[in-house]
Amino acid sequence: MATEPSVAGPTTEEPTAEEPLVDGFGRVHRDLRISVTDRCDLRCDYCMPAEGLEWLDRSEILSFEEIERIATLCVRRLGVESIRLTGGEPTVRAGLVDLVARLAPLEVDLSLTTNGVRLRQLAAPLVSAGLRRINVSLDTLRRDRFERITRRDRLDDVLAGIEAAVESGLDPVKVNCVVVRGVNDDEVVDLARFGRDSGVTMRFIEYMPLDAQGRWDRPAVVGQDEIIAAISAVFPLEDEVRGRQPASRFRYLDGCGEVGVIPSVTEPFCGDCDRIRLTADGELRSCLFSTTGTDLRGVLRDPSADDDRLDALVRQVVAGKWAGHGISSVDFVRPRRSMSQIGG
Ligand code: GTP
Ligand code: 5AD
Ligand code: SF4
Repeated sequence: MATEPSVAGPTTEEPTAEEPLVDGFGRVHRDLRISVTDRCDLRCDYCMPAEGLEWLDRSEILSFEEIERIATLCVRRLGVESIRLTGGEPTVRAGLVDLVARLAPLEVDLSLTTNGVRLRQLAAPLVSAGLRRINVSLDTLRRDRFERITRRDRLDDVLAGIEAAVESGLDPVKVNCVVVRGVNDDEVVDLARFGRDSGVTMRFIEYMPLDAQGRWDRPAVVGQDEIIAAISAVFPLEDEVRGRQPASRFRYLDGCGEVGVIPSVTEPFCGDCDRIRLTADGELRSCLFSTTGTDLRGVLRDPSADDDRLDALVRQVVAGKWAGHGISSVDFVRPRRSMSQIGG
């Protein structure tokens, strides 16, 4: 299992009494999102330039031992209950299945967000390693359009990956579609139908200002109301249910499952946010839109730094979390990093 260099420094001691991670607004943080790489095998137009980005060097990326140490600390000492592995594209990181196997004994809600390209081969091994659920990105069902959006001809691989995910027993399988006006907004109903027919939960995501090229603009955002109106005209929906999740969920009246919308622009869920994120290079960020991060890697690699120091740093990051991203405010500042560099 240990295919990566081992880390100097103490490992986590016996679990201590849990003191939850509370911020200045009383939000308790229980969800940790860990980016395992900034690299990706697609080049989605709304995320990366065609030539890719300047990738992190191997030495800058947290090793599996380092990730396991932070994850263990967050679960055992800080009350984290769910961990999601993200990227870039997490499946391009060699040994991802081993990482899942390392984290599975923590017995949290362990999930993965992927573009699905390699899922046909990986779904079964990931399940055997302890993964229980998965979210796959799919913005179109049309091959030419897929190639235009992602700059790669991989639609068939992604569809086969989604099928493999369902067959391997991952449950639920959620499929994420970022809706961009003039790009794929005419496919919302077709994708909703795809979700109903394939036993997956489709979720439509409002386009956020996190692209690497700074091309986002407000008119390109297709809002939740418009998306739901289009779907319910064909497949009638019940009223919205929204819990402590970013997604608003709507059940089909005919009992054929549900569809979700992630309305980060028109109805942000910041007030209920319980997330912290670890970037592939070991920065801790309390918000997807944080403009800076706190370096944990240096502490992890400092032989004199124990878990108390890490514990205090994580608490400090959460304590300083702001109320919300304020995308719609005139004072909004985009993070310098793109979604793939922060972790989706
Ligand atoms: P589950 O509901 O637990 O399955 O996860 P999720 O929907 O949060 O995870 P996923 O990785 O599938 O993310 C889907 C989309 O949610 C992303 O593309 C983002 O658009 C959005 N998202 C994820 N985390 C955040 C966040 O912290 N803030 C905001 N505003 N949006 C987020
Ligand atoms: N806005 C909204 N969602 C985005 N994603 C990537 N970039 C953006 C953006 N600018 C989505 C991906 C994937 C998830 C990790 O984030 O499509 O589903
Ligand atoms: Fe890769 Fe995801 Fe960015 Fe597409 S959105 S280029 S799949 S990281």
